[in-house]
Amino acid sequence: MRRKLAAGNWKMNGTRAALLELQAVISAHADPSVNILICPPATLLREAAILAEGSAISIGGQDCHAEVSGAHTGDISAAMLADAGASHVILGHSERRENHEESSDLVRAKARAAHAANLIAVICMGESLAEREAANTLDIIAGQLASSIPDATNAGNTVIAYEPIWAIGTGLTPTVEQIDEVHDFIRQSLIARFGPEIGDGIPLLYGGSVKPGNAAEIFATDNVDGALVGGASLKQSDFSPIINALE
Ligand code: G3P
Repeated sequence: MRRKLAAGNWKMNGTRAALLELQAVISAHADPSVNILICPPATLLREAAILAEGSAISIGGQDCHAEVSGAHTGDISAAMLADAGASHVILGHSERRENHEESSDLVRAKARAAHAANLIAVICMGESLAEREAANTLDIIAGQLASSIPDATNAGNTVIAYEPIWAIGTGLTPTVEQIDEVHDFIRQSLIARFGPEIGDGIPLLYGGSVKPGNAAEIFATDNVDGALVGGASLKQSDFSPIINALE
């Protein structure tokens, strides 16, 4: 049975005052029946981890370097994230793939580094609007799955997030049929590659304009084990109803 996960990606939002929102999430969900993850910007990670210690909330990074250490100004290694108190790291987000030209091969290398540091890799993938309109969605997902997911993936070290690029921060969401089609495709692909036990055990999140108003409908879809939430994770008053809809 896959445990459900409500994950918040704060992206490049939040100064230390935002930790009050994390505190509010911790207080509102003392004994949740689902996993809850908040990925703050790197500047807040250590303080967030200290705040969340002993609570039901996990803390994650938003990216890591593929190497353990070295001359990489501005970068953070997976081991550093783990040392700061992270248990997860988001990898291959479309904003990294687009704005930092990250290839699926690089995402796979980062995921290997995350696994080596005992972090759970939350690996993102999704199609652009042009790719969907050209009916290429499943081909794009197949390619991203094949190249972004390391061979040593298992049900405990990896979560996959399907985030159609055109739904991120736009208020647009796919129909539940569209989400169902892609999640089912990812599930069958994972089973074909890793076998039924691992393939069926990897949690699949949906991401892209998840809000309190649409969460329940999305969560009722087959093979949706939770959400990776951007904008609506910044305020506890928006994020808590999404968590509650998953419980
Ligand atoms: O990683 C989460 C994300 O890209 C979705 O963002 O703001 O549409 O919920 P948002």
